[in-house]
Amino acid sequence: MSEDGSNGYDGIARIYIAGRGTRPLVGDAIGAAIVRAWARAFPPGATVLDLGSGPGEPSTRILQEAGLTTHAVDASPAMVAAFRERFPGVPIEQNTVEASGFFDRTFDGVLAWGLLFLLKPAAQALVIGKVAHALNPGGRFLFTAPKEPLEWLDAMTGLQSQSLGAQTYGRLLRDAGLTWVADAQDEGGNHYYFVEKRQPK
Ligand SMILES: C[S@@+](CC[C@H](N)C(=O)[O-])C[C@H]1O[C@@H](n2cnc3c(N)ncnc32)[C@H](O)[C@@H]1O
Repeated sequence: MSEDGSNGYDGIARIYIAGRGTRPLVGDAIGAAIVRAWARAFPPGATVLDLGSGPGEPSTRILQEAGLTTHAVDASPAMVAAFRERFPGVPIEQNTVEASGFFDRTFDGVLAWGLLFLLKPAAQALVIGKVAHALNPGGRFLFTAPKEPLEWLDAMTGLQSQSLGAQTYGRLLRDAGLTWVADAQDEGGNHYYFVEKRQPK
């Protein structure tokens, strides 16, 4: 993790927000249809935590439009300021996901859209464990990461990103008591992992 905790995103927040965080229509963002379908499957009022929310466009906007009670965490002060302008009533914590106090609560869903692979492998495993702990039985987790194990430099920050790959994510999810139920790929080639915390039998 970089020193600012946001893995370089605070420094490029203005550019990021101009590109993804200010959309006249949420529906035109890459992957929005997948996240919207995931969000709409919750009962109204269900609680969902948006990890690495950025300015909340499009992620929190989609969750709100689906009638969900939303909380968000982001480590970038600039992203959090932009979020608060857009969603004054929605609780957001300026913190790393690794240290977020929201993991002391429980949620029906957790979304990590464009986040997990920015973290070091040990931090990714830690966050998966925290998600498993915070999810209510029957709760659902949606995250993105390439299917193959892969290291690359983030196009916006130039910092190292790392996908652990489907096999390792599957093992980490299983070890944490979660069940990986499906995959999807969006129009930008991003890979989505649909995960559940199964009800005890
Ligand atoms: C690629 S952006 C994705 C933003 C948003 N989820 C979206 O889909 O537009 C990654 C976001 O995660 C935040 N972030 C990066 N590392 C983080 C960490 N360790 N803890 C909390 N937020 C982090 C960045 O500040 C940035 O807003």
